[in-house]
Amino acid sequence: MGALSSFGLDARELVALATAVEVNHRPEAVRLLWQGSGRKALPALRKLLGDTSGPVRVAVLDIFGESGDPSAIEVANGVLESDSSPVVRATAIRVIGRAGLDQRTTSLSQALDDPDPDVRATAVELLPHGMAGQAGELLLKALTDDDLRDFSDYIAKLPKPAPPADAGEPARMQRGQALAKQYLCNTCHNGDFSGKENVPRIANQRQDYLAKTLGEYKDNSRHGYDGSMADVMGAVPQEQIADLAYFIARVR
Ligand code: HEC
Repeated sequence: MGALSSFGLDARELVALATAVEVNHRPEAVRLLWQGSGRKALPALRKLLGDTSGPVRVAVLDIFGESGDPSAIEVANGVLESDSSPVVRATAIRVIGRAGLDQRTTSLSQALDDPDPDVRATAVELLPHGMAGQAGELLLKALTDDDLRDFSDYIAKLPKPAPPADAGEPARMQRGQALAKQYLCNTCHNGDFSGKENVPRIANQRQDYLAKTLGEYKDNSRHGYDGSMADVMGAVPQEQIADLAYFIARVR
């Protein structure tokens, strides 16, 4: 092919030649064509995205990705929207992954809606670190309701945390217990703090986590699904949080 291009065949004619090559060798022919003709072959190569062979379409997309040509992202977006093969769509996502950050965000968020789980996984892999804030939102979009159910079933089966070996200072444990009673923590979280329905288990969670999250409910920097904990913590003075956390972390 390379040699043929130096014989003055134009890109269109070369693509016609590539199409005439037997299907198993066509991706290779496409590559040689690219190596021989470079960017000027791109518009003609683009037509081969209509080829019936998936590997040919993958080869063409790879070339667009390598070329760094500004048209690459538009070409890849088109494939992502319309190609029937998950492998080809995943290749399109890789091409998009190489593009500039702004373009990537829109295209990847669209790819996260893809019906094929492998295509969504490829998009997730390519979520750039620079997208920090948006990445979580996009990831959630990629999870179907079934994924979320599987995920919560899995978490629900994890073993409960064990109480620490250190039984705690008796006087401090008593103070914490009295506070838990005073503020009715047990009415919602259960007598043994094992939780129920939408109320989480808090028994034997880490003391530092408990203290931190209670403080955050109090100053409203942690928002629950409802206002229950903010209401509860409104009545609890800041200086009692440490004893509550101490007790709940060690409760047996
Ligand atoms: C009116 C019911 C109710 C009462 C009373 C209550 N809680 Fe809660 N608690 C909840 C609910 C509901 C949640 C889940 C909140 C959310 O949506 O994030 C929660 C969450 C928590 C969490 C976060 C758990 C986690 O895994 O992040 C902690 C810690 C907690 N409660 C401690 C307490 C303590 C300590 C008390 C008593 C001072 C208390 N709760 C009283 C209903 C209650």
